[in-house]
Amino acid sequence: MSEQRLTVITGAARGIGETTSRRFSKGGDKVVIGDVLDDAGADTVASIEAGGGNAAYYPLDVTDEDSVNGFVEQIERDHGPIDVFINNAGIMQDGLTIEELPMEEHDRVWDVDYRGVYLCCRAIVPRMKERKRGVIGNVASMFGIAPYMVTAYSPAKTAVISLTEILAAECGPHNVRVNSVSPGYVHTPMMQGRFDTGIRSKERMERDSALGAMTEMLDVAEAFWFLCSDKAKAITGVNLPVDCGVLVANSYNAFPR
Ligand SMILES: NC(=O)c1ccc[n+]([C@@H]2O[C@H](COP(=O)([O-])OP(=O)(O)OC[C@H]3O[C@@H](n4cnc5c(N)ncnc54)[C@H](O)[C@@H]3O)[C@@H](O)[C@H]2O)c1
Repeated sequence: MSEQRLTVITGAARGIGETTSRRFSKGGDKVVIGDVLDDAGADTVASIEAGGGNAAYYPLDVTDEDSVNGFVEQIERDHGPIDVFINNAGIMQDGLTIEELPMEEHDRVWDVDYRGVYLCCRAIVPRMKERKRGVIGNVASMFGIAPYMVTAYSPAKTAVISLTEILAAECGPHNVRVNSVSPGYVHTPMMQGRFDTGIRSKERMERDSALGAMTEMLDVAEAFWFLCSDKAKAITGVNLPVDCGVLVANSYNAFPR
C-alpha cells in the first residue's frame, strides 16, 4: 500500500495498545485510538503528534454496541476507510477458583475481553469485506492457550483465538486477513507497579520462560506490525505467542525424569 494506512487500535490510551500505536505511527500509519480513558487517550495522541506522527482519539466503550458502531462510523466519515483494526482493549482478573470468582466479575471480563472484540469485528468486517481490503489483529493471551487460574479471562481469550480462526476463514475470500497475538508476561507499567510492591516477582516470571526474559510491550507491537504488513500477506488465522517461550518451558519442565 503506497498511501498512508489508517490503523485503529482499541484500548490504546496506555499499556500495550499505546506502545503499538507509537510503533504503527513510527511506521508511517495514521493512528486512531479508542478508549474509555479520555484524558490518557488525548495525552497519547498529543505525544504522538509532538513526535511528528498523525493520530486522533475517539471515546470508545467496546462493551457498548452503539458506542462501537458509532466509533467505526465516525472514524470512516472523518478519515476514510480503515485499513487495519487492532482489538487490544482488555481487562485482567485476579487468580480465583470457580467458586471464588463472583459472577459479576466473570461477566465483566467476558464483556470486555470477548464480547468487545466480537462487537468491534462485527462493526468493521462488513466494511472491509465490501472493500475487499483490510487486516484485523486481535490481542489474545498465552492464558488463552494453556490453563491458568484466571477462570474467566483464560476462556475469554481462548474464545478470541477461536473467533480469529473463524473470521479468517470467513473473510479470506474477501481479501481480509485476521490474526491474533498471544502475549506472555508483559513488562507493563502496571506490572512494574506489582514488582515494586512485591505482589509479583520479575525474577520468577523470567525464570518461567525459555529465554529467561519478560516480553516487552514493543515485542507485542512488532508482532502486530509484521502481521498487519504486506510481508504477512500469506498469513491468516494464526495465533502467534509472543511470550519468550513461557508456554514451551512450562510443559517441557513438567516432564519428570
Ligand atoms: N500485560 C500483560 O501481561 C498481558 C498479557 C497477555 C495479554 N494482555 C492483553 O493485552 C491487552 C492490553 O493489556 P495491557 O496490559 O496493556 O492493559 P492496560 O490496562 O494497560 O490497557 C488496557 C486498555 O484497555 C482500555 N479498556 C478497558 N476497558 C475498555 C472498554 N470497555 N472499552 C475501551 N477500552 C477499554 C483501558 O482503559 C486501557 O487503556 C489486553 O487485551 C490484555 O488482556 C496483556
